[in-house]
Amino acid sequence: MSVAKKQYKRITVKSLVDMKANNEKISMLTAYDYTMAKIVDGAGTDVILVGDSASNVMAGHETTLPITLDQMIYHAASVVRAVERALVVVDLPFGSYQSDPKEALRSAIRIMKESGGHAVKLEGGKEIKESIKRILNAGIPVMGHLGLTPQSIYKFGTYTVRAKEDEEAEKLKEDALMLERAGCFAIVVEKIPAKLAEEVAQSVSIPVIGIGAGAGVDGQVLVLHDMVGMTHEFNPRFLRRYMNLYEDMTNAISNYVSDVKAVDFPNDEEQY
Ligand code: KIV
Repeated sequence: MSVAKKQYKRITVKSLVDMKANNEKISMLTAYDYTMAKIVDGAGTDVILVGDSASNVMAGHETTLPITLDQMIYHAASVVRAVERALVVVDLPFGSYQSDPKEALRSAIRIMKESGGHAVKLEGGKEIKESIKRILNAGIPVMGHLGLTPQSIYKFGTYTVRAKEDEEAEKLKEDALMLERAGCFAIVVEKIPAKLAEEVAQSVSIPVIGIGAGAGVDGQVLVLHDMVGMTHEFNPRFLRRYMNLYEDMTNAISNYVSDVKAVDFPNDEEQY
């Protein structure tokens, strides 16, 4: 059994808070379908995020904005069917929680009921405090998301590092404290200076999981397709590629095409 899998048979929101208390780093990756989720879970990842990055990675949209609640539920239900150990967190998509707390709760309930996911993630700070509270009051665990929040890309204008200036950094710190006080079980911080991320992680007792936020936080998250090198046009500094699946798959597929053309596949053993 891998080191990662040893301690916890099934990851819960409490396991994550315990990990932080015990100085054990948390591993988190995205997955959007059954087959990938089975691999990610089997390898010992603590948290699987059914991210709205499915909008980019699975559907080819330029931003995360177009993906719908129904589509998120479809992806999440596929992931949940594969997972035996990891905690499955599902993104509430753009437009499903920003207008009012009642709608936010209705969307979160649909995710929990129809996908079987274990928790939801929402982007934003004090602007969505009432929605977060309402969801939490219904017994649904909530993960926050601060820093670069891709659902607000048209407000930001670019995907560059957030909270480099004091004013935005101060707001982010206040938002993190608010999310903890409201009852969130963890916070993702995306693309912010490592020093600020570390400060935030030290200021709250719930886990802070970073993407492009340095090593001083309580865990790391990456988009699976980036991390295995399936995507190859996206090359941010924070991304470590653990393999080059784009190249491997391209070679395998072009070999298959050549074999079919040359009538080398199937051979005698590969037929009935
Ligand atoms: O949707 C997503 O994949 C995310 C991660 C980048 C944290 O929110």
